[in-house]
Amino acid sequence: MAAFSLLLALFLLSERSSSLPKSAAVRYVSALGDGGMKNRNARIALEAWNFCNEVGDEAPSMGSPRLADCADLTCPILADYLHQRLDSHGSKCEVRHWVNETDNKLASGDNFPVSGFTSYKDPDMFANEKERYLGSLCKPHDTEEEPWYFWMIMLKNGNFDKNSTLCPENGRKVGKIVTRRNFPCFGKGCMNQPLVYHNYSKLVADEKGIMHLIGGFNGTYDLDAELSKGAGTRSFFSVSWQKNVKTGSWVFSNSLTTSRNYPWLMLYLRADAAEGFSGGYHYNGRGMMRKLPESPNFKVKLTLDVKLGGGPNSQFYLIDIGSCWKNDGQPCNGDVLTDVTRYSEMIINPATTSWCRADNLVSCPPYHTSLSGQIIHRNETSRFPYSAYHLYCSPGNAEHLEKPYDICDPYSNPQAQELIQILPHREWSVHGYPKKQGDGWIRDSRTWDLDVGALSSRLYFYQDPGTKPAKRVWTSINVGTEIYASNRQETAEWTVSDFDVLVPEQKAISS
Ligand SMILES: *[C@@H]1O[C@H](CO)[C@@H](O)[C@H](O)[C@H]1NC(C)=O
Ligand SMILES: *[C@@H]1O[C@H](CO)[C@@H](O)[C@H](O)[C@H]1NC(C)=O
Ligand SMILES: *[C@@H]1O[C@H](CO)[C@@H](O)[C@H](O)[C@H]1NC(C)=O
Ligand SMILES: *[C@@H]1O[C@H](CO)[C@@H](O)[C@H](O)[C@H]1NC(C)=O
Ligand SMILES: *[C@@H]1O[C@H](CO)[C@@H](O)[C@H](O)[C@H]1NC(C)=O
Repeated sequence: MAAFSLLLALFLLSERSSSLPKSAAVRYVSALGDGGMKNRNARIALEAWNFCNEVGDEAPSMGSPRLADCADLTCPILADYLHQRLDSHGSKCEVRHWVNETDNKLASGDNFPVSGFTSYKDPDMFANEKERYLGSLCKPHDTEEEPWYFWMIMLKNGNFDKNSTLCPENGRKVGKIVTRRNFPCFGKGCMNQPLVYHNYSKLVADEKGIMHLIGGFNGTYDLDAELSKGAGTRSFFSVSWQKNVKTGSWVFSNSLTTSRNYPWLMLYLRADAAEGFSGGYHYNGRGMMRKLPESPNFKVKLTLDVKLGGGPNSQFYLIDIGSCWKNDGQPCNGDVLTDVTRYSEMIINPATTSWCRADNLVSCPPYHTSLSGQIIHRNETSRFPYSAYHLYCSPGNAEHLEKPYDICDPYSNPQAQELIQILPHREWSVHGYPKKQGDGWIRDSRTWDLDVGALSSRLYFYQDPGTKPAKRVWTSINVGTEIYASNRQETAEWTVSDFDVLVPEQKAISS
């Protein structure tokens, strides 16, 4: 497949610096298997996570919460040449599915149809094994060198039963949860996995007779719901994909509705590391990114059309970037006691306020780095851009925190986490991000060209004093919403298309 690439002028961070050239021409190439979402074949998977990104218990007769829809569209060469045009007698095109119902229904303890995968009884470990199995079925055959797998739809339920021991505390297994923090939970079983339904990708013709694939997933966390009669007061999610016939991009249409029993839900479309850890996930997973983007040199492009916001607590992320490194700057190695998930998110719902304020420094990062590289301490009230931040919280296993500090929720990840949540602001719009609240929100659909690399290199992340700065390599780039505990039913709806992650082309190393 032809790599989608762009010739971009890279303006170095400090234009004023005289020792550096004003600009240098750098060729950017897509880091994704499905760059710009232009592939006509479908490579899509779904994962459902409980509060700490595990499974816990599988939903009745649903299997392990990992599913995939991987379908190739093949049309006869001549029809292909004529843009897959149909003759009046109907389609000559065919769909080949690489994942079938039996694969998608695999549940913990089941044997895999091929060797090389272990049929764990533990639902958490089985889900990871199933993800790798589905990946092996979906891996495109033209790419031995830099394999890639699928877009990942992530669905997460924010219920947490403090009487259970399903989630560790900052990565540490605990026999009993003792905390004053409050979490939604309606009672026993509140951390269940969803019911999921699937329309396998199938052929449709556009008005010119050109064939495309279309498909989708929907489902609910309310196990007593009857979705065929509509979701009603129950929780609901749906993600469907079809082609924009003008641009050739996939359009992912998303919808997420909370319910009384499931007031806190998340639905993201993720470009994860093709192999290895991804943001918030401590197993060797499967994803879309063949090359990993590293700050400060990478960009993210996407078209986002928010149709319904999801209420005041909907933290809509344009975008969320996730990674993992240790407090001493070393990369993660799967040791959940010292690995730390790092997230940064821009929240574009204009109802989101700044918790970081001059009178609430506890929710601010210790300092802000200005575009020119100046460090502005959070107590410099006349200069610190408080309204550029929603909140900052520190990893629970950090040993040298500057007071005052807040520790991030110690239970909602497999390990400790650090979060820096930013808001639309002039500080960030220089990198292509929204300038003011409301930009990119409902009825303001836009195609964004975000210099995520430059922005993320300016963010504060905790590190132990005297240690070498971590390489900021990002293993997940996500877009979607997190509807926080809402006391009424809320619905968010949005579409994502043209998604790409662009990284500088690497010079081939000759041996
Ligand atoms: C589904 O696919 C698996 C693996 O390719 C294969 O072993 C199995 O026979 C298939 N099942 C059906 C019902 O087609
Ligand atoms: C947890 O245990 C307490 C005390 O036994 C009980 O009151 C509460 O309902 C339990 N919570 C859940 C979610 O089961
Ligand atoms: C499957 O497609 C039908 C017809 O378009 C639609 O009504 C239904 O909601 C879809 N279901 C899923 C799981 O996407
Ligand atoms: C979800 O998908 C199922 C299966 O395609 C369909 O019967 C149902 O109507 C859909 N539910 C909603 C609420 O769209
Ligand atoms: C601001 O914080 C820095 C770093 O903690 C400290 O050195 C300085 O004294 C503080 N300034 C004021 C005015 O509190």
